[in-house]
Amino acid sequence: MRVLVTGGAGFIGSHFVRRLAEQGTEVSVLDKLTYAGNPANLEGVEHEFHQGDIADPEAVARAASGCSAIVNFAAETHVDRSILGPRDFVHTDVLGTMCLLEWAREHDARYVQVSTDEVYGDLEAGGRAVETDPLRPSSPYSAAKAGGDLQVLAYVRTYGVRASITRGANTYGPNQYPEKLVPLFATNALDGEALPVYGDGKQVREWLHADDHCAGIELVLHEGAPGEVYNVGGEDHENIEVTHRILELTGADASLIRHVEDRAGHDRRYAVDDTKLRALGWAPEQSFGEGGLPATVSWYRDNRSWWEPIKSGSYRAYYDEQYANRLKA
Ligand code: NAD
Ligand code: TYD
Repeated sequence: MRVLVTGGAGFIGSHFVRRLAEQGTEVSVLDKLTYAGNPANLEGVEHEFHQGDIADPEAVARAASGCSAIVNFAAETHVDRSILGPRDFVHTDVLGTMCLLEWAREHDARYVQVSTDEVYGDLEAGGRAVETDPLRPSSPYSAAKAGGDLQVLAYVRTYGVRASITRGANTYGPNQYPEKLVPLFATNALDGEALPVYGDGKQVREWLHADDHCAGIELVLHEGAPGEVYNVGGEDHENIEVTHRILELTGADASLIRHVEDRAGHDRRYAVDDTKLRALGWAPEQSFGEGGLPATVSWYRDNRSWWEPIKSGSYRAYYDEQYANRLKA
């Protein structure tokens, strides 16, 4: 089996490529190398690399040649950037998904769409989303991902494409671009910079290690049924708890915490029921606060050469647009 991994130079995609390569599976990668794509994530990993856009059918055909399966990680992924400008999100997360599905349809390939728990929108305390729940996305990012999911389900029903969907929780681990909560706060804390907590910080996310997330996706690739959706859950924590744990692990002072203006449309709580994936044999191996988070913070402490070059140039311009006024207020 040769697998096309799209978005394989990004955070979770690169963990997945490494996982398959270590098992001896042949892997082709198609990645546009946007700001979030980083060839360094794949250093030392056996794969065939193609730079290109998943929304470009010719690029897809070149990269997918000889593959019998596609696992689609390629996406615009950051909620705050989607609020600043949603166009690229619709291009990649909806149109790009459709282009990959076209190739899968023409070549009778197996297809896995890597989606997110954010498509369910936020949940009341106590509730957990099951796979059959209606989609109620809140942000331009989650709306684009929901659009991709609907394309997948339409291709299953209309053309018989053998596609499944995973909906994973907030993922953390090494090699995550330092715009999301864990890597942003870990690197800021290591540099003695402010940690901008949106609103009261009592929003709840489920935290899933990248290796556990990839194990779930791989299981769905091999054992998942076409037309079926599988939630991949994590451990629930309030953002402010995660923030304090990062401060402890970096030895930084709580005075770095700054409660800033909230994110527009901010989802209060995500939580999924992952009974269906567990019934296939999946269970997470990493505990967040005691195992996965300390190891991840150590990785950022030990790998400044990976993130310091990122936190300059165009990153700085994004950071200022996103945070300068919030931090001044
Ligand atoms: P990331 O932002 O780190 O990486 C995305 C990758 O996709 C980058 O390498 C980028 O260059 C590539 N890409 C973007 N647009 C492309 C295009 N048009 N054509 C080809 N490549 C393109 O993302 P991530 O955090 O690794 O997320 C991977 C997938 O997992 C996404 O589909 C995301 O929606 C989903 N997901 C992420 C999380 C999370 O917490 N990070 C949780 C659940 C699901
Ligand atoms: P994020 O990592 O952007 O993931 P998502 O929005 O996809 O869940 O954010 C995780 C949580 O952390 C979310 O509730 C927003 C919050 N957050 C902050 O409080 N400050 C920040 O600077 C960032 C990036 C996120």
